[in-house]
Amino acid sequence: MNVFLIGHGGREHALGWKLAQSPSLTQLWSTGANPGLLALSQPSHVDMADHDAIVAFCKANSIDLVVVGPEVPLVAGLVDDLAAAGIAAFGPGREAAQLEGSKHFTKALCDEANIPTAGFGHFSNLEDARAYVAEQGAPIVIKADGLAAGKGVTVAMTDDEADVALRDCFDGQFGDAGASVVIEEFLEGEEASIFILCDGENMVPMASAQDHKRVGEGDTGPNTGGMGAYSPAPVVSDAVLEQTLQTIIAPTLKTLAARGTPYRGVLYAGLMINENGPKLIEYNCRFGDPECQVLMMRMQSDLLPLLSASATGSLKDAAIDWHDDPAMTVVMASNGYPGSYGKGSIISGLEALTDQENVVVFHAGTKEVNDQILADGGRVLTVTARADTIKAAQQRAYEAVDRIDWPEGFCRRDIGWRAV
Ligand code: AMP
Ligand code: GLY
Repeated sequence: MNVFLIGHGGREHALGWKLAQSPSLTQLWSTGANPGLLALSQPSHVDMADHDAIVAFCKANSIDLVVVGPEVPLVAGLVDDLAAAGIAAFGPGREAAQLEGSKHFTKALCDEANIPTAGFGHFSNLEDARAYVAEQGAPIVIKADGLAAGKGVTVAMTDDEADVALRDCFDGQFGDAGASVVIEEFLEGEEASIFILCDGENMVPMASAQDHKRVGEGDTGPNTGGMGAYSPAPVVSDAVLEQTLQTIIAPTLKTLAARGTPYRGVLYAGLMINENGPKLIEYNCRFGDPECQVLMMRMQSDLLPLLSASATGSLKDAAIDWHDDPAMTVVMASNGYPGSYGKGSIISGLEALTDQENVVVFHAGTKEVNDQILADGGRVLTVTARADTIKAAQQRAYEAVDRIDWPEGFCRRDIGWRAV
């Protein structure tokens, strides 16, 4: 098969790495200039936002399957535009991608299908939102409705913090994404994520993972795209998984299918788990980054036929084999991230890691100039390892980190602390 992978971050390098191992792959194409991905694929030089150009590229290169990594093109309807041109694509259509594209869409669906989640209100003006916060009281959670690159959520421990968050949203800090807000009950428990492969009707659970969103050790400081992750998440027992599938995932798929907008692709369910079982915090319509890196490191099955079956509605009877061994990934980011940071510093020591067993360094924000790897973004590398215990995976990942020479970068030294 000829496969066109859309996106060029650490998640897509991990997907490309796994796809490249498939006996069914003829040629892999990619967008952008991620040096890790380019070692495995041909560059397309097509702009992700230009759907017509993507369709034309697919036709010209006999693409059999498009794999869409990030949420923005999914919410923008890339899969619908490809389908209209007769091209199979992995990922949900525009309407089903609203599970990530609009927090209120998901809350309303939870109401309709009786899915366990935090109580909520939805407001499109500051006065009504304030009145609701005054009535409910802190702690309370304020969420910009639309896509805000992971920055639209404030867990407010005081009424004042909630007020600041509300004003930020309605003052336009998140653009259109903040034109309305969802205000949620504060949930307590342990967080974890579950990834489920879907084909519109059938669901095949993949694996659980836990990420570290805060930049600082001990899960402190500002939110980021994710500073590290591990899989499996110990809190997701077989019973929790089963309860999640029956009370959260199955009713979601059934409701969307009944509306004529079936969900295909990977469904990323963010959960809060306590003694009362799992509740849905949020859905994303794609693989997590960096959770995808640990999932790909643990996956034994061939990824390509699974993604293809998800796209074409033939996942029934599919099963996925996993390494029991846990995996961990540590993100190396540019000094200053998630605030402002420099670009262009030299990263060395990567070659020595290419033949390390069960260690893979996935590239995110890097570029290659004159045979040198340079930092070119906030999150730059995801150093990923698998071993027979979570502690051994952690040790192996940090040993690899310590062999990378990049004074302008940093990482958290405590990824996995809860599980270890
Ligand atoms: P989200 O982008 O919706 O995943 O929210 C970002 C983070 O905010 C989550 O990973 C949780 O840590 C926290 N969060 C979101 N909603 C709630 C809630 N209702 N109760 C407690 N924490 C929450
Ligand atoms: N690591 C969190 C996310 O991908 O949304």
